[in-house]
Amino acid sequence: MSPTVLTVVGARPQFIKAAPVSRALAEAGFQELLVHTGQHYDPSMSEVFFIELGLSVPWRNLAVGSGKHGAQTAAMLVALEAAIEEAQPDVVLIYGDTNSTLAGALAASKLHVPVAHVEAGLRSFNRRMPEEINRLLADAVSTWCFVPTEVARGHLLAEGVDPKRVHWVGDVMADAVRLFQAQAPTPELGLGGGPYALSTLHRASLVDQPEVLANAWQALNGLAELMPVVVPLHPRTAGAIAQLGLPAGPHLRVLPPQPYLSMLGLLKGAEVVVTDSGGLQKEAYLVGRPCVTMRDETEWTELVSAGWNVLVGERPTPERLQGAVAAFSGWSRSQGDLYGDGHAARRIVEALQASGVGV
Ligand code: UD1
Repeated sequence: MSPTVLTVVGARPQFIKAAPVSRALAEAGFQELLVHTGQHYDPSMSEVFFIELGLSVPWRNLAVGSGKHGAQTAAMLVALEAAIEEAQPDVVLIYGDTNSTLAGALAASKLHVPVAHVEAGLRSFNRRMPEEINRLLADAVSTWCFVPTEVARGHLLAEGVDPKRVHWVGDVMADAVRLFQAQAPTPELGLGGGPYALSTLHRASLVDQPEVLANAWQALNGLAELMPVVVPLHPRTAGAIAQLGLPAGPHLRVLPPQPYLSMLGLLKGAEVVVTDSGGLQKEAYLVGRPCVTMRDETEWTELVSAGWNVLVGERPTPERLQGAVAAFSGWSRSQGDLYGDGHAARRIVEALQASGVGV
């Protein structure tokens, strides 16, 4: 009988990360049962990714939806426990640092099903971020910690994690870029092919504090005086901006959430990326664009060390943001291999097989 992997996904970046791994699992003869927690449910945040990335229809959709952390995670935990008991998988595969990741880690480990954590070892060292709590706990109970970088490996070893649990594989988002970037459409923005900045904001600490969001929005409007700013908006951010009645100046181009391929196209065409997202910082590098990060710290410190990313803090003045963007003017560098060679998924499957799963 082929070995069974139960994969837990729920939020937009997890669909992207799962795509290359699902392919590699299928090629190696694994049976994969995809469980969608329903954390993201708008078609533009979920369904469109399944279609574009060729992910299989979820075996179960837990339809948990939005909620406060306790309620959302608890609802996932209850439903995941039942799904894991029913499926009796050999491995539960989890991605990243969302509430879906944590629920998968807890449900599986308490049922004594080994957990494989993809994108393990990331740390912001800011425990006020829900993602930091999710990562710490997921790594603590995972049998396989699949790290994307040597920095991430170092964090786990510093925490006393048994080195045998830590496997460097590279970053699965590099796999996704390798697999899909040829399909990315050239954006049609009506900007006459001129330079633009691409910006996203969605993190709770930025969006849920009105004065922080108002400041960020003002900074983006200030940047837009330098060059047009294209802003695909997460529904959470769109809601908060509407509620606060924050105005968008004439050069701020607000878009709905973008599918993966369109986002890759927008990234490739951008002069610079301005974001509070973890994933986008990395994707910018993977397509050769520099990034200005509106946060006080980042998990992806190697990008900062290598000069590809600069932190301007969560509350930059318009001048600070303009200055950081201007400093990247004419940026052209070929990227190295900070995130591996685009074959992380294959290494993940090989590591599972080497541990006796699926052999
Ligand atoms: C979640 C992750 C974050 C990840 C992000 C990727 C946690 C704690 N956070 O943040 O790490 O970077 O996904 O996008 O797991 N909403 C909709 N439609 C949707 C989904 C959400 O309108 O399809 C709105 C709801 O108002 C909801 C809010 O967005 O309350 C926040 O959604 P939630 O899933 O809790 O967190 P994200 O901000 O998406």
